[in-house]
Amino acid sequence: MNLLWNTSFALATLVLAGQGIAQEQSFAGGYKATMTPELAARLKKADVAAGDNFFERKCSQCHDGEKTGGHAKGPFLWNVLGRKAGSIAGFEFSEAMKKSGVIWDYATLDYYLANTERAVPGKAMNFAGIEDADLRAAVVLHLRKMADKPAKLP
Ligand code: HEC
Repeated sequence: MNLLWNTSFALATLVLAGQGIAQEQSFAGGYKATMTPELAARLKKADVAAGDNFFERKCSQCHDGEKTGGHAKGPFLWNVLGRKAGSIAGFEFSEAMKKSGVIWDYATLDYYLANTERAVPGKAMNFAGIEDADLRAAVVLHLRKMADKPAKLP
């Protein structure tokens, strides 16, 4: 009896410790997303005009996409590629975004825009995501264009 109790206690402790670790990871660890041949191919064949159009219709409700712009409901996105998430001055980001540790590149943007809550749980951007992977790549290409010097394509 005693042994049984001890065993289940040890098991419960293990389970709890396991949960603690998982939470810590999702809280402080952000996520990693790396370039894949699949994503490179999607970016290569993306319909640039569709990306421009989608940004205009959806993202620009909250984000200023002009070089001369600034923060709106969402942060200013000019030069976002290469930037650390939640880092631009003058915008009040969520703790989740600030602590995500993510650097915006093609892969991290593609992952974020697929499902924003999965990528950065607790984020403050009220936009669920873009399920259509080709359209998503097109929107990422639009973000690429929003830069003084657009990043190299993979
Ligand atoms: C309803 C308003 C809203 C819409 C629509 C929206 N966003 Fe956002 N976006 C935000 C807010 C608010 C944040 C800050 C999130 C946080 O702090 O957690 C944000 C953050 C971001 C960031 C991170 C910026 C940084 O400096 O770290 C990117 C990239 C982004 N949005 C891209 C997009 C794209 C692309 C679209 C369209 C597909 C879009 N957003 C649609 C409000 C919005």
